[in-house]
Amino acid sequence: MKSIVILISGRGSNMEAIVRAAIPGARIAAVISNRPGAGGLEFARAHGIATMVVDHTAHSDRAAFDAALGAAIDMHEPDLVVLAGFMRVLTDGFVRRYEGRLLNIHPSLLPSFPGLHTHRRALDSGVKVHGATVHFVTAELDDGPIVIQAVVPVQAGDDEAALAARVLAQEHRIFPQAVRWFVDGRLQLEDGRVVLSDAVAQHGMALVVPAPDAGAGA
Ligand code: GRF
Repeated sequence: MKSIVILISGRGSNMEAIVRAAIPGARIAAVISNRPGAGGLEFARAHGIATMVVDHTAHSDRAAFDAALGAAIDMHEPDLVVLAGFMRVLTDGFVRRYEGRLLNIHPSLLPSFPGLHTHRRALDSGVKVHGATVHFVTAELDDGPIVIQAVVPVQAGDDEAALAARVLAQEHRIFPQAVRWFVDGRLQLEDGRVVLSDAVAQHGMALVVPAPDAGAGA
């Protein structure tokens, strides 16, 4: 059984997607938020998952916060730590401590649009495809070896909310998929590169392009 700790900051819909995926061989040991009011905490509690809050405002600097966060995480001895809408920049020391077992989701096709407001920036730039990326975390913000991406075509008339909703629907597909690969021992980080098992690579599943009507109206 692989133990997973999920970090959130808000709504927690990606955490919810991972919990609902009920991945065989995986146990969600805890959901930890840096914000006491994060909506996702309620869902976790209702599903019998241990929750903790490590409030970043209660710590004097990033290093102190990361130390407290690391201590909370390590209580659960996780095999995998998942950043699911966790909106804090982590210190190098923290990232190194969980190297190879720290996954993040970012709402763009990295390396395009790291940082915030990705959907607005995608629309402003006129790209024809947008999407989401699951990657191993490195010290660089929204950077790191890419595990899986979902491509979401930008449609005429899209506004930020419409595009965000279609991307989010794909996030909810690819994040549980990446976690499943990790739990199955098919996904590893070796010398800074993602290694996916042959079966996965052969099926080309590291890139998900929805059918043209998928997510329409979402
Ligand atoms: C997601 O779009 C995620 O990619 C981004 O923040 C959002 C969090 O949503 N980092 P949720 O909390 O998982 O619903």
